[in-house]
This record gives sequence, C-alpha cells and structure tokens, in this order.
Amino acid sequence: MQIVKIDPNALSEEYGEKMCESLEQGNILVLSAGIFNPTDQDCALLRSSKQSASSAFKNIAYKPHINRTTGVSADAGVDATEVHRILAAYSTGAIDFLSRLLPQYAKSWKVDYATFRPLEEQGRDLPLNRRNDLMHVDAFPTRPTHGGRILRLFTNIHPEKDRVWVTSYPFEELVKRYAKEAGLDEVTTAPAALKRSVGRIVRMVSRKDSDRTAYDEFMIRFHTFLKSNEEFQKKGQVDLSHFKPGETWISFTDAIAHAVKAGQYAVEQTCIVPREAMLHPDLAPLAVLERAAGKPLATR
Ligand code: SIN
Ligand code: FE
Repeated sequence: MQIVKIDPNALSEEYGEKMCESLEQGNILVLSAGIFNPTDQDCALLRSSKQSASSAFKNIAYKPHINRTTGVSADAGVDATEVHRILAAYSTGAIDFLSRLLPQYAKSWKVDYATFRPLEEQGRDLPLNRRNDLMHVDAFPTRPTHGGRILRLFTNIHPEKDRVWVTSYPFEELVKRYAKEAGLDEVTTAPAALKRSVGRIVRMVSRKDSDRTAYDEFMIRFHTFLKSNEEFQKKGQVDLSHFKPGETWISFTDAIAHAVKAGQYAVEQTCIVPREAMLHPDLAPLAVLERAAGKPLATR
C-alpha cells in the first residue's frame, strides 16, 4: 500500500485516470487540506455535539437520499439542525471535489451516507463485529453492493491529534490466505442460495431484509472473520499511517484491510462505484473472489 499525495491544482480527465489507477491498485490518496472542510467554527460545533447512547447508532449519519441526520443525542446541548447543516454541506463539498478528482467514477456512482465519528476510537467499547480498531474490509449488512466498490473519503477534524490507521496485505493476498477458511465455498451452496431467496421475498413483503448476493454474504463473513482472527490481527499489520488534523484521505475500503488505532473526530463520505466503472474490473474484490471460488458470485 502506498500513500499518494493529491495535487488539487492538477485535476483533469488524465490526472483522474492516474488517481483511479492508484485507488484500484489498493493505495490511499491524501489531500493536505480540503476546500470542502467544515470551517473552524463548524468543526468546533461538531466536536461539541454528542452521539446518541443507543447502540442502534455507531456514528452520526447524514443520509442524503432522505435529507436526514440520525444519531445526534437529544441531550447534546447542540442544535441537531446545525449538525445536519454542517454534514450536508460537507457531503456536497466532498462529492463535488470527488467528481472533479475522479470524473470516470462520478458518471455512475451512487452517493451513500456521510458520517461524523465523535468518539475516541482507541479502547472504544463495542461488540467485536462493530469495532473499528480491528483490521477488516468494509461490507454493509443493510446496504449490499452486489459487487459495487466502497469508495470512502475521510477528513480528520481533530484540532491536534492524528487519526492513525493500520493496514494489511493486498486483497488478493488476503483471499489467498483466508477466503476458504472464512467460508467462500459455503456461500455458493444450494441451502445458502435458498436462504437468500427467502430473504428477498421477506424484503418484498416487509421491506426488512436485504437483497444479498453470494458476494455480499461472503464480504460480511470476511469482515467478521478477519476481525476475530487473532493471528491475522497480530501478524497481518503491514503499514501504519498517520492522517494529520485537516487532512483528507480516500480509498476503496472494501479491498484494503484497515483499522483505526487511535483518533477522534472524523467526518466521512461514502460512494458506491459500480464495478463496470473500474479501469481494472479484474482487480475488484468480486473478480478476485470469483477466480478463487471458480464460480460467479454476483448472480441472484
Ligand atoms: C472504518 O471504516 O473502519 C473506520 C475508519 C475510521 O473511522 O477512521
Ligand atoms: Fe472500515
């Protein structure tokens, strides 16, 4: 994994291609100060807001498709509409910047949530599956991507402290070492397919279940498997990266196994990029896993 500096004055179709290439190779792009960062005053306001104590909320989330922000504690002492305004503005600015940086992806991506992460990540008390301090690849249980890529842009809004990430082997290597053990062969069996079909019917009737493919099911398993594998957590730490206050970093977090070791106060924007928009669709997790399984994984 390499850290690649973004030159904000170089944005063009050709530069975008270079950046897409770098992201698809499993690198992290870094921008020293985003023009879309919230103002100092708005950062201070976000930092004084509190997250709801309910375990239903892992972060404070702005959901652009319904124009709502969830997870702000009612006793925060901060006006929830102010938090909503700041996150909506950050989301618009981040998407505008990403569209100019990566025009190849912007044509077909789906804008997902923006989040604010108010809690110190070091020693945060969460069930294993929700911990951010254990290395994992990202997969969303409630929002399956069917092979689409999870592109995330983070900004550190702590006034002094770095946000520290540890990352692991390239995705291909992770698959070679752990995919079988994590159950790659099981997600393509007839009972597993039947269970997903039932889930699809439940979803049509009650809107409650999610429409997963074998790929989505495996990625959720892989996420949990990696978090609970002690050997991987100990020996798989390859790179340590410090993201400074004000810095923004961008990566495909479905392919880079990552954990946040320390840091407080970050904002983030996610986009789901269809696999067809990749310069190298064969490097996408879906393709790597299909080669390993010897079967298609995104058919329903
Ligand atoms: C994560 O996606 O694991 C969280 C990373 C972060 O909040 O820095
Ligand atoms: Fe993650």
